[in-house]
Amino acid sequence: MLRGKAYYLPWLVSMTWLAAGQQGHESQQVAQKRGLTEVFRWGNIDFAYPSSAARDAAIKSGLFVPESNLPLGLEVYENRLFVTLPRWRKGTPATLAWVPLDSPLDSPPLNPYPSWDWHVPGDCRGITTVFRLNVDDCGRLWVIDTGSEDILGSLTTTCPPKILVFDLKTDRLIARYELPKKQVKEGSLFTNIIADVVTCKKTYAYVNDVFRFGLIVYDLENNKSWRVENPYFFPEPLKSVYNHDGLKWRWNDGVFGFALSPVEGNRRFLYYHAMSSWREFRIDTSVLHNETRATTSPDAVELLGSRKRTRGNSSGQSMDRNGVLFYNLILQDAVGCWNSYNGEYSPEAQGIVDVSNVTLNFPNDLKVDHEPDQSVWVLSNKLHKFLYSKLDPNDFNTRILTMKTADAVKGTPCEPGYVIPAKKTRQCNEL
Ligand SMILES: *[C@@H]1O[C@H](CO)[C@@H](O)[C@H](O)[C@H]1NC(C)=O
Ligand SMILES: *[C@@H]1O[C@H](CO)[C@@H](O)[C@H](O)[C@H]1NC(C)=O
Ligand SMILES: *[C@@H]1O[C@H](CO)[C@@H](O)[C@H](O)[C@H]1NC(C)=O
Ligand SMILES: *[C@@H]1O[C@H](CO)[C@@H](O)[C@H](O)[C@H]1NC(C)=O
Repeated sequence: MLRGKAYYLPWLVSMTWLAAGQQGHESQQVAQKRGLTEVFRWGNIDFAYPSSAARDAAIKSGLFVPESNLPLGLEVYENRLFVTLPRWRKGTPATLAWVPLDSPLDSPPLNPYPSWDWHVPGDCRGITTVFRLNVDDCGRLWVIDTGSEDILGSLTTTCPPKILVFDLKTDRLIARYELPKKQVKEGSLFTNIIADVVTCKKTYAYVNDVFRFGLIVYDLENNKSWRVENPYFFPEPLKSVYNHDGLKWRWNDGVFGFALSPVEGNRRFLYYHAMSSWREFRIDTSVLHNETRATTSPDAVELLGSRKRTRGNSSGQSMDRNGVLFYNLILQDAVGCWNSYNGEYSPEAQGIVDVSNVTLNFPNDLKVDHEPDQSVWVLSNKLHKFLYSKLDPNDFNTRILTMKTADAVKGTPCEPGYVIPAKKTRQCNEL
């Protein structure tokens, strides 16, 4: 399969990789290089209260229950790291928080964002539960508030789901949009958002409905939204059983990981996958921008291919300016990649950036930042143990890791110019 093709071998590590690659794509092709660097790690999460008396009072009243808090989503902007904390159980004092990236502490306390006033329980003017968020190229933070709390208990929807946009220069709210009732279904859960900037004025945001399999397109300039549905937003029922670290669970989550491609010749694609699926899809964003076309063009959703068994189920993902898609492989404790400029989406084209059952135990969210020299950022959080077993408060459970994207692709099939080996003939047509 490797014969007769010119391979681009920019450095010695690629030789090692090819040697491993000859044994078949099922061997773990981890490049021989330094992996992701740990930036922060936490056992129990703490918050930066104005005083220790205020913290004690919050604990006493049950507003702050340290072991109920587990970060899930992340974003990075200049010197700030943002994390989200869904209200899984009672006792999360703030669902959106930040820490300075240059903090000298390993486990810094979290600062509520934008302030404590936004995190008053039951106050729908503030923020109830955020899963994931997005920073755009205009220095704005896009937040989707599900409006739900006590998610593992009674799943109470206290407030209407809404989009909030903050100016990161001033930390002031610049847009607030409640999703219209007819776009929200019984049992809907909105967990992800990505902003598609044509210009800072003409900007769209895409929001996923992970439980009712829909996509909301929000048009900022005209302050309106539409709901797009497509069978390709559904999960695959046979991929809904998860087995990891001795725990078994079922998730029937649909349309989920969002990433936007660079603009190429006026075209830009929204990449996505269902959580419980091995497949990857994309949609031309110009179709999404037009309500009529978005809601009447089911064929605009394009199947790219499948990661198949070895690169199974993926969660958060993000694409860099060079068209490299980075994604988390939750059941492999790994971060994977695929270079959209290198050709087709096949198992052979997927690379592994790093793997670790300690630092990447349940890699949950992943973002590529906006710096001139881009880095990939990963949040791992042992979510399966938090949900279905118990976290050890004396161990580190949540970690933030990072690496330059240029280094991350080195020695993997995501390196620019890598030629994907021809498909294996023995490969059966597994889903
Ligand atoms: C945007 O639309 C929503 C709902 O239709 C409305 O409540 C809100 O006031 C509008 N915002 C602006 C800035 O016009
Ligand atoms: C949206 O698409 C429809 C159908 O293709 C077209 O008739 C309409 O002009 C488009 N609207 C805008 C604003 O481009
Ligand atoms: C997830 O991927 C792993 C391989 O990495 C595979 O063994 C497992 O069956 C997959 N699970 C699902 C639910 O697809
Ligand atoms: C990580 O994997 C190694 C090698 O497979 C194993 O010995 C170790 O127990 C694992 N550690 C954890 C925390 O699961």
